[in-house]
Amino acid sequence: MLAPNLFMKTIAMGAEAVLSITKRDGERVLVKDRIRKGYRVPELDERIRKQRTKTEMRLLGRARRAGVQAPRVWDTRGSEIIMEWLEGPTIKECLNGMSKAKRLDAYEQIGRAAANLHKAGIMHGDLTTSNMILRKGVPEQLYVIDFGLSKTSHRIEDHAVDLFLLYEAIKAAHYRFLDEAWKSIIKAYKHNYTIAGQALERLGKIERRRRYRG
Ligand SMILES: Nc1ncnc2c1ncn2[C@@H]1O[C@H](COP(=O)(O)OP(=O)(O)O)[C@@H](O)[C@H]1O
Ligand SMILES: [Mg+2]
Repeated sequence: MLAPNLFMKTIAMGAEAVLSITKRDGERVLVKDRIRKGYRVPELDERIRKQRTKTEMRLLGRARRAGVQAPRVWDTRGSEIIMEWLEGPTIKECLNGMSKAKRLDAYEQIGRAAANLHKAGIMHGDLTTSNMILRKGVPEQLYVIDFGLSKTSHRIEDHAVDLFLLYEAIKAAHYRFLDEAWKSIIKAYKHNYTIAGQALERLGKIERRRRYRG
């Protein structure tokens, strides 16, 4: 374990990781530890966990350099990554209970984050509202997390897949705000990304392909 500590509190059991808060030099930090998957051959399992941890660290850095709000990485080893702890709910947890003004602000930040990621040649790979934290503060700022499935890509198709996933996530978790959310997110996305139109066109194709397949 990277940070043996008396204070270690598990805050989330993700799909592939255990997330805990611990203290380092008196500051709270977040430890993301990718857990063993029993259905994978052990050697392969270890390789995948290390690989995703490395990817996450690398792409988190790339995103931050591109001006996307994402947690700072303090340290990594093996399948563990220690990063900045962001206090605040995920968008998935808070969007449905927010006022309209706050929702609109969140959409704008979501669209801008997606645009900045894509502009920097990053496909997030799991761009859902569970992977966005609205960090407490004045103003509240949207942070993008969970870069384990990300990759560097300038391909329009990859960017459109990100948008498709985001759309599906909003449909699934925030259905009554779907139209409002999508309109505002796309507006901000276009505003911050000159070739947004191409990604949106490709998104249309993905949707049509899906529909025909049923
Ligand atoms: N840096 C962070 N600060 C605060 N909470 C976090 C942070 N990173 C992750 N979390 C919390 O843990 C959950 C799972 O983390 P995530 O990186 O998305 O792992 P998984 O790959 O398992 O989905 C998030 O939805 C969020 O609630
Ligand atoms: Mg996640």
